[in-house]
Amino acid sequence: MSTIYNRVCLELKKTPNRWLVTGAAGFIGSNLVETLLGLNQKVTGLDNFSTGFQHNLDQVKSAVLPQQWKEFNFIKGDIRDPDTCAELCAGQDYVLHQAALGSVPRSVADPALTHANNITGHLNMLIAARDAGVKRFVYAASSSTYGDHPDLPKVEKKIGSPLSPYAVTKYVNELYADVFARTYGTKSIGLRYFNVFGRRQDPHGAYAAVIPLWFSALINKKPLYINGDGETSRDFCYIDNCVQANILAAVNSDDEASTNRVYNVAFGERTTLNELFSMIAKRVASKFAHALELKPLYRDFRPGDVRHSLADISSANKYLGYTPLFSVSQGLDKAAQWYMDYLN
Ligand SMILES: NC(=O)c1ccc[n+]([C@@H]2O[C@H](COP(=O)([O-])OP(=O)(O)OC[C@H]3O[C@@H](n4cnc5c(N)ncnc54)[C@H](O)[C@@H]3O)[C@@H](O)[C@H]2O)c1
Repeated sequence: MSTIYNRVCLELKKTPNRWLVTGAAGFIGSNLVETLLGLNQKVTGLDNFSTGFQHNLDQVKSAVLPQQWKEFNFIKGDIRDPDTCAELCAGQDYVLHQAALGSVPRSVADPALTHANNITGHLNMLIAARDAGVKRFVYAASSSTYGDHPDLPKVEKKIGSPLSPYAVTKYVNELYADVFARTYGTKSIGLRYFNVFGRRQDPHGAYAAVIPLWFSALINKKPLYINGDGETSRDFCYIDNCVQANILAAVNSDDEASTNRVYNVAFGERTTLNELFSMIAKRVASKFAHALELKPLYRDFRPGDVRHSLADISSANKYLGYTPLFSVSQGLDKAAQWYMDYLN
């Protein structure tokens, strides 16, 4: 464990704080809840189950001690309702705002729905966090904000034009957080996640992300597709690295240089889809020999997708002490174990 994160976790264990996690029944949210409860924190979770699941919360329950689970208060509700946001932010020390509708293609199919959840919902949460005077509002931003900017690696200050309605919503989240800091003194940090993966990322449905989709298809012998020529690349980030960034962003010293800005959250390495496919197939084949015989079908590029993505993570390291502890390969080992148990 990195020294700063290690120290922060030890400190937290001694001092229970109050946390609100939105999107708590989702992939990233449920992992945040699990880690926070494991650190003896008092956690309120909010989710409307639009893309999250009760079974994610059930898994958290079995991963933590009974006395830690007692410190979890789950509310089924919607961030599009300002009263719910206000009620739940009151009395919290930290807010980790993850609730949103993910997926570029979903936003292309229904931009108004993505707007309502991701922009109106985010604004409601910011207002509620401001009025409650929380110590820190950490929110899920996205690498999609880099849009068509050609530079690699991606550095926080240089962004292009958004390539999808989803990317617009995530950029607007940053603009609102910035204006709230200037206008009302709200203390926030945005984390631009780069393709997070790991346990509990949903493998089902039309908008599943590539890693869970391929685990599922390879395990269950289903058709496999690569959009484009397979040389599209991403900076895939294992979930435990993302959890680390959230906790560090919440509790880091209230220093003007480090708050009210956005940080890349990634591993800092580029993997092409062709490479990723081989890495996943090799792992699945350790239990299901048929995985090595299944070949992907190449089809058209998807509208709205960026071609390459790679993060410069030096700012998160410098200002938050973020040091990703899991490489893509190490993360895939862990994810493979989970998917092979879960999907079989
Ligand atoms: N997974 C990634 O690689 C990635 C990359 C960039 C950004 N993000 C962002 O991270 C956050 C979490 O994503 P995830 O991958 O865990 O997705 P997820 O779909 O698993 O989790 C999102 C959760 O938010 C809930 N939710 C959605 N709208 C809501 C609403 N109006 N009210 C209450 N709850 C609502 C969903 O039910 C779900 O449980 C999102 O903001 C997403 O945009 C994720």
